[in-house]
Amino acid sequence: MAVDLSTPLTWKSATGDAATMLDELQPNIVKAHVRDHLSVLFLGFGDAGEAKTFLKALAGLMKSAKKHLEEIEAFKTSQSGGTSYVGVGLTATGYGKLGIGTAPGDPSFQGGAKKAAGNLVDPPVESWDDAYQEPIDAVVLVGDASADATQAKRAEVLALLPGSVTVLGEETGSGLTNENGDGIEHFGYVDGRSQPLFLTEDVDTERDTTDGINEWDPSAPLSQVLVADSAAPDPNVHFGSYFVFRKLEQNVQLFKQAEQDLAARLGLKDEDAERAGAMLIGRFEDGTPLVVQSAAGSHHPVENDFSYDSDKLGQKCPFQAHIRKTNPRGSGGAEAPEAERLHLMARRGQTYGRRSDDPTAELPPAYRPTKDVGLLFMAFNSNLGNQFEFTQRLWANNPGFPITADGSKPGLDPVIGQGERPGSNYSRDWGRNNVQPIDAIPQAVTLKGGEYFFMPSLAFLRSL
Ligand code: HEM
Repeated sequence: MAVDLSTPLTWKSATGDAATMLDELQPNIVKAHVRDHLSVLFLGFGDAGEAKTFLKALAGLMKSAKKHLEEIEAFKTSQSGGTSYVGVGLTATGYGKLGIGTAPGDPSFQGGAKKAAGNLVDPPVESWDDAYQEPIDAVVLVGDASADATQAKRAEVLALLPGSVTVLGEETGSGLTNENGDGIEHFGYVDGRSQPLFLTEDVDTERDTTDGINEWDPSAPLSQVLVADSAAPDPNVHFGSYFVFRKLEQNVQLFKQAEQDLAARLGLKDEDAERAGAMLIGRFEDGTPLVVQSAAGSHHPVENDFSYDSDKLGQKCPFQAHIRKTNPRGSGGAEAPEAERLHLMARRGQTYGRRSDDPTAELPPAYRPTKDVGLLFMAFNSNLGNQFEFTQRLWANNPGFPITADGSKPGLDPVIGQGERPGSNYSRDWGRNNVQPIDAIPQAVTLKGGEYFFMPSLAFLRSL
């Protein structure tokens, strides 16, 4: 039976083509892989034959999605450690250099990230870090829970490189956590929490058992992340996924100052001042959704079962808050909720850069870094134009989204919006009708480079 892409997959009982699909799929796509320590290697190909031999050998260091899921189960029952994650993606130029004419056809992928930059209002390519200005042919990701394991596996990858494959650049990710042990990004907020879930086992674990009411359905069909691997021996069972990589530098000082300024403008003091930052993100630092309660401190694990139904006027969570912009949960007003869900992508980011301050400590903004730290934004898509690009261009960068009842414009996403920033409305009291217009929040996130890749099936790599 053909792989049913129209629903999430029950992996434990998968048989036939679905089982083959999982055996030949890279890990980290249908479910996130541990990558607290991460090395991202950008490669350029010279000789096609040598590049193929390298990719084929690299497949020997990789495990399948199926193996990854089995390792997670084994860890649950016996605490046995898993193996490192090795992932590989190719750009359209990479396929070209290998002489493969059947590369996946997504137009954004074919054009590459440099071509897309104008539409996304990205900073000019000439301002990107050097490594991203050249044509990139491939990316290799190596990740694990420990730095030692990651380094050891990275060394194995590098040992396979023939002379004609060059390392154009490398990024090193390392996770940050808060006092609850949850992963945070550099502004100090829990990140990576809300995800489309492609496995029914994961959807079942998320089901709300406290009140029995599910306000947000995190499930997504496989078609939202998997793409038939057109260059593989059998695209009916061999799948891959489009992978967006963006190096986003964070000026933490600027953002933390903007939080304080917003609190001062709205007269929010003491404990209530935390709400200023929460209004930019849509969650408090500990992950508590702002639409659910007016102060931090929700139960653990971090809540994700909420919608904006109780906040149609944006008086609890501003319309422009990062998570309301990037997932309006059916409330965007521009499309039917089912169509709106299709823009969600599987985020697999990791923070980069060392800092001398403690990101979780209460410190004045002046103690915070202004550069060299940020997010290696990574996400899997089945359609770049309708997922990553749609989110950045038509939601985050669009002052008129979401559509509001009174016709007022929310402004840009204060975190990732790119382009001219008008002012926005922010509510002085949570849930009350006293929104106040505030000058634009300064842009504290800057793109330093990026690329689009396709992460092919293992069968494709072995066939080279
Ligand atoms: C440095 C840049 C960024 C920072 C600091 C950041 C931060 C965050 C934080 C703190 C959350 C809340 C935690 C969660 O729900 O997982 C979040 C969620 C999210 N972010 Fe970002 N993010 C960044 C870049 C991006 C980009 C480039 C996109 C896409 C274009 C994006 C899309 C999303 C989405 C879709 C969610 C989940 C919303 C939901 O389902 O409720 N983020 N981000």
